[in-house]
Parts: sequence; C-alpha cells; structure tokens
Amino acid sequence: MILLDGRKTSSNLKFEIAEEVSQMKLSGQSVPHLAAVLVGEDGASLTYVGSKVRSCQQVGFESTLLHLPNTISEDELLKQIELLNANGSIDGYIVQLPLPKHIDENKILMAIDPLKDVDGFHPSNFGKMALEMDTFIPATPFGIMELLERYKVETKGKHVVVVGRSQIVGRPMSILLSRKGNPGNATVTLMHSHTKHLSNITQQADIIVMALGIPKFLKADMVKDGVVIIDVGITRVPSDQNPKGYEILGDVDFEHVAPKSSYITPVPGGVGPMTIAMLLKNTLIACKRRQN
Ligand code: GUN
Repeated sequence: MILLDGRKTSSNLKFEIAEEVSQMKLSGQSVPHLAAVLVGEDGASLTYVGSKVRSCQQVGFESTLLHLPNTISEDELLKQIELLNANGSIDGYIVQLPLPKHIDENKILMAIDPLKDVDGFHPSNFGKMALEMDTFIPATPFGIMELLERYKVETKGKHVVVVGRSQIVGRPMSILLSRKGNPGNATVTLMHSHTKHLSNITQQADIIVMALGIPKFLKADMVKDGVVIIDVGITRVPSDQNPKGYEILGDVDFEHVAPKSSYITPVPGGVGPMTIAMLLKNTLIACKRRQN
C-alpha cells in the first residue's frame, strides 16, 4: 500500500510556484494577486479561507481577504463582486461556499468574471472543462488529478467509481476522469443518494473517489483487493482527545480499507492540502493569462 501524500506533494507544488513567482519579480512583472470573499463566521470556512491567505504569503502572492457580515444582502454582495471584477490589481478571486441561505449561490457564481474565476465554478468555465477546452479546473478535482499524475496511477481503461455528485467535487471529477488524456480515459460510474446496490458497484471499482461527507462510510468489504482510494471527506466530529475539540474524519474506514488498497489518500494530509495548492496554481495561470 502506498500513501498518496498530499502534504508532501502540495509542498513540492508550492515550492515550484514560489520559484516561478521569484522569476516574475526578477523580470519586473507584478506577482499574482488572489482575493477571497468570506461571508459570515462559519468555523470551517474561516479555517479554509485563513489557510488560503497564508498559502499566498508562503509562495509570494499578494492576497486580499474581504470578510463580510452574515447580514449582507444579495445586492450588496453583487456590488462587491462587480468591484472585484473591475479591480485591475486582482488576478483571481473566490467566493467561499456555502453562502448564507438568503443569498442565491448560483446568482453570485454567475456574476464572477470567468477570467478571474479561479475556482472554475462559473458555467462558462465548467462547460469548457466538459468540452476539454482550456479553462480553470475546480481546485479539489484538479488536486486529485495532480496526485494521480505525480504518483503515476494508471487511469486509462480503469473503472472509476465516484461517490457523490456535488458541483464542487463529484460531478467535475467524473467529467475529468472520463476526458481524453492522462489522467483520464477511464470508464466512470457516478453514484449518489438514489444509487441502488452501491456495494456491488464499489466492489468492481479499480479506483474509488469518495466525496460523500459521511465519516467512515466505505468499509473493507465494499472494495476489492488492489483498489485505489481517494478520500475527499473532511467531516468535523466532536472529540475530547483533540485540543481543538473535534477531529477530522474522511469518508473511508481507513484502518480496514488501507491494507486492501494499492494507493490511498490519508485524512487529513491527502486531498485537502492539494486543494489549496491547485487554487494557487489557477491564480498563477490567471495572472499569466492577463499579462500575455
Ligand atoms: N467550499 C468548500 N470547498 C470550496 C472550494 O473549493 N471553493 C469555494 N469557493 N468554497 C468552497
């Protein structure tokens, strides 16, 4: 069993990005600038956005955090989006999800300039991804593709089972792995809450991507020997063992599934760190596109 080490891989990636930023500085170019919009005080979102901003500093990017109150109206938020679209010093930005219930997420995502949409959530970018055109790939699926590529995990002709059809992970993942290219060229089954005989299908999978959000859902008797496991789950579960008062659990019963697998991502330290590294990569791409 080989661990797909997201910490090490993301730190290599950040090093490569930082090198490129140094070269940009030396040649008098402005460095990439990422902005993050955070609405409200959701604990997990605060943590994620905080580490996105810190990662910008690590690689020499500029960053701006726009922290807005939970009470902001949809119209006011749309005005902020317009300002970010018009701001020539910002190469890319993200609006951290979920947004408060009184705000229509799709309306906000549609308002983001696709050229600055480094999350790749705008329909124009999502459509381009499906059509195999040049675009921004959503950071979590992009990170999984990078891990598969760097560890030379074969996907061609393999049966990949993606569990979960979220717009951020499951659905884009299913599209990316069925596209032409490497990683890609896989036969993909996308499973969701209406899927019948789930274990029968996971037992046939060469590669399983778990993006369900139910801790330890995937058990050893649901997989075959030699399976490749990608665990996107990051559920916070209360714990007195941990000084933070919670622990992070994946969707996979790691202890029992790992011995049967050929490759597996740990939680934490697998897919999570890759997401941030790929967001930085998308911001670098956005910056280079604007300067060329
Ligand atoms: N919420 C959970 N994951 C993500 C992500 O990748 N991007 C944004 N904007 N919000 C998220």
